[in-house]
Amino acid sequence: MGNETPEKTLHDGLTIPSIGFGTYALNGSEGIHAITSAIDEGYRLIDTAYNYENEGAVGRAIQRSSVPRHELRVTSKLPGRYHGYKKAVTAIQESLYRLNLDYFDLYLVHWPNPKQDQYLEAWQALVDAKKWGLIRSIGTSNFLPEHIDRLEQETGELPTINQVELHPYFNQEQQRAYHHEKNIQTESWSPLYRISDIVENKTLQNIAAQHEKSVTQIILRWHYQLGTVPIPKSSSAKRQRENLSIFDFTLSESEMGLINELSKPDGRINDQDPAVYEEF
Ligand SMILES: NC(=O)c1ccc[n+]([C@@H]2O[C@H](COP(=O)([O-])OP(=O)(O)OC[C@H]3O[C@@H](n4cnc5c(N)ncnc54)[C@H](OP(=O)(O)O)[C@@H]3O)[C@@H](O)[C@H]2O)c1
Repeated sequence: MGNETPEKTLHDGLTIPSIGFGTYALNGSEGIHAITSAIDEGYRLIDTAYNYENEGAVGRAIQRSSVPRHELRVTSKLPGRYHGYKKAVTAIQESLYRLNLDYFDLYLVHWPNPKQDQYLEAWQALVDAKKWGLIRSIGTSNFLPEHIDRLEQETGELPTINQVELHPYFNQEQQRAYHHEKNIQTESWSPLYRISDIVENKTLQNIAAQHEKSVTQIILRWHYQLGTVPIPKSSSAKRQRENLSIFDFTLSESEMGLINELSKPDGRINDQDPAVYEEF
């Protein structure tokens, strides 16, 4: 079994790798260095957001790299303060200028902010920006089924992906089943639980020992076998390489089951429930 990254095809035909690179907190010249290294190590799906304040660093790393633009999949996200239609269109354009790109492969509405209740307008802006060629594929992040149902009813357009908090302590079983039914690709944010104490987990350590892999490789392989696309962040080339090296072994059904049992209803990292949490 080789270690090449398999691809997935979204419902609009765009292909993406089965694992991507998260860039939260990779800013400035150190950020450029880390993102350049990730591209050199083989990551082709890169996740940023307007609110990470590092679209400049991502753009610079892309320009430095010798990888042709068409081989990369660049994602950014629209913040809550720009959900109004005109503001959203301008925000997408400004994101592109900062990255020095002509188009995004993926652009997501970052949070639904249901109390603010403007996510339909934001979605309409993404639908139109796609028509104008600014975005190839449009998606959401942190949207619950009720929010996605409303997008579908009002605009007839379903997101190609929904990026949600997903790790062994919060495995999003119901949300994943909903995505499956709608043919929406699940993407996992904080796929490694931002590390913290998860590396100490005995179940994960035992499975890692069985396969002679690290706990992070076991977690990322679990994401892959669930069918979700994880986007781990790492500032180190060694750990970036380690995280990509998950396609040469398989977890058994019972190992998958043991990891699924680690999930808890209150397992979110910061209790950010999209039904009530808002981010601007
Ligand atoms: N849509 C949203 O609302 C949302 C919210 C949060 C995050 N995100 C996206 O998801 C991405 C990933 O989530 P995240 O950054 O929160 O957390 P994460 O990827 O789960 O974990 C990152 C942490 O794990 C460490 N790490 C990575 N690989 C490791 C390895 N092999 N061994 C040991 N430690 C390792 C990193 O340290 P080092 O850097 O030192 O290696 C860092 O401290 C973000 O960067 C962002 O792009 C989206």
